[in-house]
Amino acid sequence: MSNVTVRGGAALSGAVAAQGSKNAALPILAATLLVKEPVRLRNCPRLRDVGNMLHILESLGCTVFREGNDLIVDSGTAANCVLPTALSRELRSSIFLLGSVLSRFSEADAPYPGGCEIGNRPIDLHLAGLRKLNAEIVERGGRIRCQGANLSGAVVDFEYPSVGATENIMMAAVRAKGTTVIRNAACEPEIVDLEGFLNACGFRVSGAGTPTVTVEGVEEGHGTTYCIMPDRIVTGTYLIGAAITRGDVTVTGTRPDTVDALLSKLSACGCDVTAAKDAVRVRAKRRPRCVEFTETRPYPGFPTDLQPQLFSLLSVAEGTSVLVENVFENRFKHAQELKKMGAENRILDRTAVITGVARLHGATVTAHDLRGGAALVLAGLCAEGDTVIEHAERIERGYEQIDLAIGALGGAVARKEL
Ligand code: EPU
Repeated sequence: MSNVTVRGGAALSGAVAAQGSKNAALPILAATLLVKEPVRLRNCPRLRDVGNMLHILESLGCTVFREGNDLIVDSGTAANCVLPTALSRELRSSIFLLGSVLSRFSEADAPYPGGCEIGNRPIDLHLAGLRKLNAEIVERGGRIRCQGANLSGAVVDFEYPSVGATENIMMAAVRAKGTTVIRNAACEPEIVDLEGFLNACGFRVSGAGTPTVTVEGVEEGHGTTYCIMPDRIVTGTYLIGAAITRGDVTVTGTRPDTVDALLSKLSACGCDVTAAKDAVRVRAKRRPRCVEFTETRPYPGFPTDLQPQLFSLLSVAEGTSVLVENVFENRFKHAQELKKMGAENRILDRTAVITGVARLHGATVTAHDLRGGAALVLAGLCAEGDTVIEHAERIERGYEQIDLAIGALGGAVARKEL
């Protein structure tokens, strides 16, 4: 367990490099099982979730090591198709391994991941898609047992464009017999990154980034070197840091096109936004204006993973904003924490009505989940006095050394291991 203390008052200023994307790295790590040769990953972030995924891969028999900034995964030695219970429950995205383990070993045995702080998070779409590919699945005693000796291509038509289910089916399909067409696929940039990785391994995937992804099954892939895309949510978090502290922050080594939905909100708040090829700068000279209406949607809509951070910004904006969370049913836990800091908000089901206050004040608050925790760090940066955030280890699931990154921008965030 850890906590962080954030001292409010300093305007963030300067440049910070974006880390590699967690949500691209996790499925790509799962996909390393699809080839029997070593894979070298560049720009893989050092995070708790990534560490847990690596432990799971090791428990399946993979060899994992770091060489400088590169991560090497050799799944040539993998020999086990049973996912470890405790580790898999800790990491929800362990469910991505179902498709790749099934493809590699023709069978897979995984614990049911269960719900989490932000919602129930069912996996019905994952299982329905795998069944379409001819996998036999039995759910018993909290475990999912899959047999897939004859995986074959099919049309998988998702009712909802689930990110994880799209990735899972892509991985299960690369070595299946024939062609798989995923309709109503998620269009997130991380799906495009997974496609890039799979194709670099010699698989044949096309259409990622559009609602139709096509996978032509091939017998074997091969090892490769691949650079993971920059993290758009971390990029967005630091840019909101500029807006909320009336600062001037440039995020370098990033992909501005992947944060378009946020940039238009920051412009609407009155920030100056300048995007270059691989950098974005946000400057804010005065108190942000409210944004009348924002709702989270699958990409290219406003990302649910930036909703809590935008919530913090709107909490100090001039006027009243409405924020609707459409993706996860329980992702407003930061609202009650922000109230402890003097914020004014009302939640009705999936809608938040936020009346901006001129100033927040420091308080002791809890990070209930990863992005909610990041939102509290942002709120603390503009609050009067010190904010202590408990359960900050949840923030470390997705942010590489947030204390040092913000420190380099002139903010004061001190981390304490408990
Ligand atoms: N859903 C179902 N059935 C399914 C799968 C999903 O009903 O079988 C529902 C979920 O309950 C949710 C919605 O569909 O209400 C969206 O879920 P999705 O499957 O798209 O999300 P995910 O794959 O579980 C990934 C990210 C999340 C991010 C979402 C949405 C990773 C490892 N996780 O989750 O990231 O919020 O997509 O963009 O890629 C985070 O990084 O903080 C995080 C939670």
